Amino acid sequence: MSLKIQMVFGTRPEAIKMAPLARLLRNWPGVELFVCSTGQHREMLRQVLEAFELEVDEDLDLMTQSQTLNGLSQQLLLHLDESYARVRPDMVLVHGDTTTSFIAALAAFHRQIAIGHVEAGLRTGDLRSPWPEEANRSLTGVLADLHFAPTADARDNLLREGRSPASIEVTGNTVIDALLWMRDHQRASQWQPAADSPLAALDPDKRLVLITGHRRENFGKGFEQICQALAELAGRYPQVQFVYPVHLNPQVRGPVHALLDGLSNIHLVAPQDYPNFVWLMDRAHLILTDSGGVQEEAPALGKPVLVLREVTERPAVLEGGTVLLVGTDPVRIVAQTARLLDDAEAYRAMNRVFTPFGDGHASEKIAQRLTRWAQTRTSGSTQ
Ligand code: UD1
Ligand code: UDP
Repeated sequence: MSLKIQMVFGTRPEAIKMAPLARLLRNWPGVELFVCSTGQHREMLRQVLEAFELEVDEDLDLMTQSQTLNGLSQQLLLHLDESYARVRPDMVLVHGDTTTSFIAALAAFHRQIAIGHVEAGLRTGDLRSPWPEEANRSLTGVLADLHFAPTADARDNLLREGRSPASIEVTGNTVIDALLWMRDHQRASQWQPAADSPLAALDPDKRLVLITGHRRENFGKGFEQICQALAELAGRYPQVQFVYPVHLNPQVRGPVHALLDGLSNIHLVAPQDYPNFVWLMDRAHLILTDSGGVQEEAPALGKPVLVLREVTERPAVLEGGTVLLVGTDPVRIVAQTARLLDDAEAYRAMNRVFTPFGDGHASEKIAQRLTRWAQTRTSGSTQ
């Protein structure tokens, strides 16, 4: 049996979540792996590749400043088509819900190449939130031959949409593989941020609130409200350090710097590489975020999370009681953050480890399923 897999990713979260799987598949018996970066992200992707010592076989290098969804999609379709023609994979493996994920799947479908979808089946049921990710993930699910669902509820969503039970494998989320690998590595080597990093200047005796945000549906009013809430919190809690690695999207950087520059206990820093960011999450008292990945990682580290969204495609995180949806209403953000900063009992209730996304072995389960798929394909079975 020989299975040629072309793995395609383009953004920071896809690369973080595919890195453990790529490292495993590089040496997996019967698999020939070709890693293709679309370069939908540039600097933020490079940070991940360096942190995981992951080499790509091809970099399409497609990012442009302030790219549009249609402009990027057009370039992806064109260049991925050429790439598939050169590489001729048996299967294209995509991840999640980005423009890269969906267009890579579409381009493979047009060439009748099998598609494996990692982190399949998450749904909010609302096409406007997260936008355009809900559509990207659902459409990729329509095209995929194999669905790697992180949780049972993701599998159930796929079954409800008519996907066959045999095409779905519940695996856990590879982000936990990445997180635990990094955390264990850091603990073993007593890792600390570099002396010239802005993180080294943080006061170890002060509480730290970590913030991230980049969702398109929050652009404009949503971001203004989030920043308004942060400014109010910073004034009310001068002894708390608010650390915000600001996403490079100009639609994010613009308002965040305009509204929060110059506040002495708000530290606006560049996007952090994965080791620094894991250290920050581990060091944080609580986390405010609209990120998908951070909602999965923080509970695994036992950190309370306030989610700056109205809905989540990860309902499993809510069941543990360590993650709360607060949206972008500034009154609500301030009230819920203040509650966790002031009320020790409320804080304790959310300050515990909860791991609905698996045990850090998702990549192995995916690799084993790929082997079975290759065997049934060779033996002529339709599974
Ligand atoms: C993308 C994904 C989103 C994912 C997020 C992770 C889509 C539609 N959006 O959103 O699902 O959650 O990545 O972070 O696929 N930029 C840089 N350098 C970088 C990265 C981005 O300068 O390394 C700037 C560029 O001006 C770029 C812009 O950010 O044009 C937007 O990047 P894009 O990938 O289109 O959207 P994100 O908001 O990053
Ligand atoms: N992350 C990082 N550096 C940062 C912010 C986030 O390495 O400065 C990591 C984080 O740990 C998670 C992933 O990036 O694994 C989340 O990416 P993002 O929030 O950009 O995208 P989403 O998960 O919302 O698609």
